[in-house]
Amino acid sequence: MNPELESLRTQITEEIHSAPDLQTLKEVERRALGKKGALTALLRQLGKVPAEERPAFGKAVNDLKVELTALLIARQEEFRKSELEARLTRGDFDPTEPGMPYDGGRLHPLTQVTEDLVRVFLGMGFAALDGPNVEFEYYNFDALNIPGDHPARESQDTFWLDDGNLLRTHTSPVQIRAMEKFEPPFRAIVPGRCFRNEAVDASHEHTFYQMEGLVVDRDISVAHLIYTMKTCLREIMKRDLEVRLRPGFFPFVEPGFELDVTCPFCEGKGCSVCKQTGWIELLPCGMVHPSVLRHGGLDPEEWTGFAFGLGLQRLAMVSFGINDIRDFTGGDVRFLSQFYHR
Ligand code: PHE
Repeated sequence: MNPELESLRTQITEEIHSAPDLQTLKEVERRALGKKGALTALLRQLGKVPAEERPAFGKAVNDLKVELTALLIARQEEFRKSELEARLTRGDFDPTEPGMPYDGGRLHPLTQVTEDLVRVFLGMGFAALDGPNVEFEYYNFDALNIPGDHPARESQDTFWLDDGNLLRTHTSPVQIRAMEKFEPPFRAIVPGRCFRNEAVDASHEHTFYQMEGLVVDRDISVAHLIYTMKTCLREIMKRDLEVRLRPGFFPFVEPGFELDVTCPFCEGKGCSVCKQTGWIELLPCGMVHPSVLRHGGLDPEEWTGFAFGLGLQRLAMVSFGINDIRDFTGGDVRFLSQFYHR
């Protein structure tokens, strides 16, 4: 090794070993390896070294750098250890004292409800789909059997965009998109954001979340729909709940229903949550209308299906006992931090 390097090595190694404290060690490090340190200066002189010696010289400097760095780290560790031991023996550090509690983030109640549902439906062979928030009028209305003059459009106050498109008022347009994309039979759920130009109050939001469900297969009946909903409820509520169907009208299903579930708070006896009826209105649903299947490119003579539209805020409100829908998007951490069922 180059004698200059050799003596530098001896000198710095010695300094590292004899440094009495961390402070001095830092100083040694700076003088040896820092920007203006001895090794850096040597590397700068590389240009003056005869070309044939240059590679060997460069390598020797780098090797020394690696060696010294390792020494420095080892010595630093020694200081750290003895510092810790000193603190422990001084007795001013109590290792048994509990740490500072810290407030970790947690999942938004809507995310929790959605994830639970997705898990349950994936288990039943459904695929979870996504669709655009900005939607064509065709998918949101016409293909769902809601032509331009249909009164049902009025119940879905729509945010229209200047280009004639709209913010989807429900997740149902993805029914058509799914039929276009997949060969039946298939099962799909579509959790997602929806928008309606509504006056906001404790139970109405202009931005809300739904989960569409759609099954297309041969010979699907209302029994399949009921079975699916009961299974889903059993998984989510961890017990069996009765459901009942009342007639409901939606242009894209025939027959259409409102599905009610036994009130989980009073088990059907009647309480303030279910307004003494013993039932809670859970979701609208029905058998997919033949003309909707046709719009999706399917032959209604061959294919049948059921669909449902679950309001996710509604479900979260019922299962967490939340009474104002505006809290979901209010961004108040005091509200959000109350829900950590997992
Ligand atoms: N899309 C309907 C709504 O938002 C709900 C629905 C979905 C009804 C599927 C029936 C079947 O009002």
